[in-house]
Amino acid sequence: MPESPLLFTPGPLTTQLETRRAMLNDWGSREPAFIAMTAELRRRLLEVAGGRSSHVAIPLQGSGTFIVEAAIGTLVRPSDALLVLANGAYGERMIEIAKRLGRRVEALRWPENQAADPGRVERALADNPAITHVALVHCETTSGLINPLAEVAAVVAQQRRAFIVDAMSSFGALPLDLRATPITALLASSNKCLEGVPGIAFALIEKNAIELAKGVAPSLSLDLYDQWRGFESNGQWRFTPPVQVVAALLEALRDLEAEGGPAARLQRYRKNFRTLTEGMRRLGFRVFLDEGIQAPIIVTFVTPEDPRFCFDDLYAGLAARGFIIYPGKLTQAQSFRIGCIGALHAEDFDRLVAAVADVMADLGPAAAARVDTVRHVSCREDRSPRVSGSTAAASPSPSAIILAAGVGRRLGHAVPKVLLEFGGKSLLERHLTALHANNVRNVAVTVGHRPDLIRAELRRLGALDRVALIENPRYREGSVVSLAVQRARLAAGQPVLLMDGDVLYDGRMLARLLQAAPENVLLFDQAIEPGDEPVKICLHGEVIVDFDKVPERAHDRHGESVGFFRFSAGMATALAERATAYVEGGRAGAEYEAAIRDLILAHPDRFGYEDISDLPWTEIDFQADVVRARQEILPRLQEMVYA
Ligand SMILES: Cc1ncc(COP(=O)(O)O)c(C=O)c1O
Repeated sequence: MPESPLLFTPGPLTTQLETRRAMLNDWGSREPAFIAMTAELRRRLLEVAGGRSSHVAIPLQGSGTFIVEAAIGTLVRPSDALLVLANGAYGERMIEIAKRLGRRVEALRWPENQAADPGRVERALADNPAITHVALVHCETTSGLINPLAEVAAVVAQQRRAFIVDAMSSFGALPLDLRATPITALLASSNKCLEGVPGIAFALIEKNAIELAKGVAPSLSLDLYDQWRGFESNGQWRFTPPVQVVAALLEALRDLEAEGGPAARLQRYRKNFRTLTEGMRRLGFRVFLDEGIQAPIIVTFVTPEDPRFCFDDLYAGLAARGFIIYPGKLTQAQSFRIGCIGALHAEDFDRLVAAVADVMADLGPAAAARVDTVRHVSCREDRSPRVSGSTAAASPSPSAIILAAGVGRRLGHAVPKVLLEFGGKSLLERHLTALHANNVRNVAVTVGHRPDLIRAELRRLGALDRVALIENPRYREGSVVSLAVQRARLAAGQPVLLMDGDVLYDGRMLARLLQAAPENVLLFDQAIEPGDEPVKICLHGEVIVDFDKVPERAHDRHGESVGFFRFSAGMATALAERATAYVEGGRAGAEYEAAIRDLILAHPDRFGYEDISDLPWTEIDFQADVVRARQEILPRLQEMVYA
C-alpha cells in the first residue's frame, strides 16, 4: 500500500496511525461492547467542552453539514426566527439550510476578512424582538477567521435568545467552556480538531432545549430529539451506526486527553501555524487575514500576482512530493488555503515550506519573488482564450456587481427581470457567460424581489458557489439601496464593474468596458430613445458634464447610458460611501445613478466614456422592449461561449 500523503487541509485530515488502527475490527450495533463505546464517546465529547452537567451529546451519522441541518431543523420551530451572523461560506450555508427548511431567517453579514461585531448583534436583537435564535460560525474555515464567540454569546444570552454555534473547525482546540459561555447548541464533527476520521457529526445541546424539541424536526433521520431519545432509551444509535468511525473517534478522543486536552492541542497548532506563516512569508506569500482575527486552524494565502504562478501547478508539485493543500473558498479574492490541524507537527510544516520553495523554483524565479498584489484570475483561467480582439488587462481583474433586486413593475411584477429568457437563456446566464468569457470571476448579485428564483437559476447553472448573493430587503425603495448593500465589495480595494441586470447586450461590450482607457468608464450609445426614461450621458467636448434622465447642465451632445460602468478601486470606495450616505441620510428613494452623478460632477476629469453605438443592446423595461429584444437585438448578438 502506498504511504498516505500528509493532508494540510481542513478535514479529512492526517490522522494518527493508532486512530486508523482502531478501526480494524467489526462490531454489531447492539453488542454491549459497542453500546459502551457509544456511551464513552458521548461522555468524552461533553468533557471536551465542560458540558457534562448542562448539556447532552447527540452524535449523528454524516458530515458536519448534517448536524447543522439537524440542529436548525430540531431547535428552530416554524414560528421562530433565526438570525445568522455570516462572514463566510459556512454562515451562508446556515442561511441556505434554514431557508430550505422553511424557517424564518435573517442575516447580519460582514466581509470575509472581518469578524462579527457583538455591538451590531446587540443592536439587531434589540431592534428585532421576533428573533428567537442566533447562529454563529466560531472559526469560519472559508478564510480561517475567528469570531468573538464569548462576546457574542454574552450579548445573545443577555437578550434571552437561543444560541447555535457551528464549532466545526474549532472544537477540540480553541478555548470553549460551556460552563462559562452560554451556548444552546454546539455543533462539530469527528474529522477536524478532534483528529478522527470523517463520518460522525455531533451536537452538544442544553438539556432543557432538547427536552422541548419533541416533534419539531421536519426530517426523520435528522431529528436530534428522536436521536437523543434513542441513545437515552437503550444506548443505541437509531439507524446503522458507523461503528469503525465511532471506534476511531473514541481513540482520537483518548489521544486528545493524552496530549493534554484542547489547550495542549492548541499549542501544537499554534506552533504549526507560526512555522507555516513565517516560512511562506519568507517565500513572499501574503496571508489574507489580519493577525488579530486569524485562528491557528487554517491559513488563507492570497494568490500571487506573478503570471507564472499557478495554484494547480503548486498543488500538483506538492502532491507529487506527498503534501496535499487546499484551494481557496473566498468570494473576495483568489486564494489558496493550508490547514494547520491534524496529526501534524512543526517539522511537517518545515518540510512543506521547503517543498513549496522547491515547486516555486520550478515554476520560475519571479514566481518565488515578492508577491504583494491580490490576483483575481487563476492560472487555468489565464490560459484560456479571451474573446476576440481583447488584450490581456494589465491591472487586476475587477469584481462585478449585477443589480437585480427590482420587482419589474412595468412588466407586471412577475419574475425578476434578470430571469427573462432570450433565445433559451436567461439574462443572468448571459451576464455570467459574458463575465466569464472576459475573465471576471468575482461576481455578486444584489437580489431583493424573489431571490429564491434567482438562487434556483444559479443552482441550475451550477453557479451557486461562485456567485455571491447580497440581499437588499428594501428593494421596493430606490435602487441606490441596492448599491449601498454592496458597500463591502465596492470598498474592497479593487476595481468594480457595475451592471444593470435588465440589459440584453452583445458580450463584446464587456471587453470594451474592461479595456477602455479612462480610469472610470461609462458605456455610451449615440442613438437614444426619445423622452425622459433613458439616462443620458451629456458631453461638453469630451468631458462628461451631466448624467441624468433630465439633465440640468448645458452640454453639446448626449447619448444613452447602457447602465454598465467600470470604477477604479478608489472611485468604487467613494461610490460605496456616496450610496450609503444617500440611504442613511433619508434619501433611500433615489436611483443609484444619482450617486454616480455626484461623483462625476465632483471629479469630471476622472471619468470618461466608451462609445459602443456599433454594438446591439437594449434595456428591458416594458413589454415592447421584450418584443424588440427578441426580434431585433437577439439575432444581432455575437453569442458568447465559456472560454
Ligand atoms: C465551519 C464549518 N462548518 C460546516 C462545515 C461543513 O462540514 P462538512 O463538509 O463536513 O459537511 C465545515 C467544513 O469544512 C466547516 O468548516
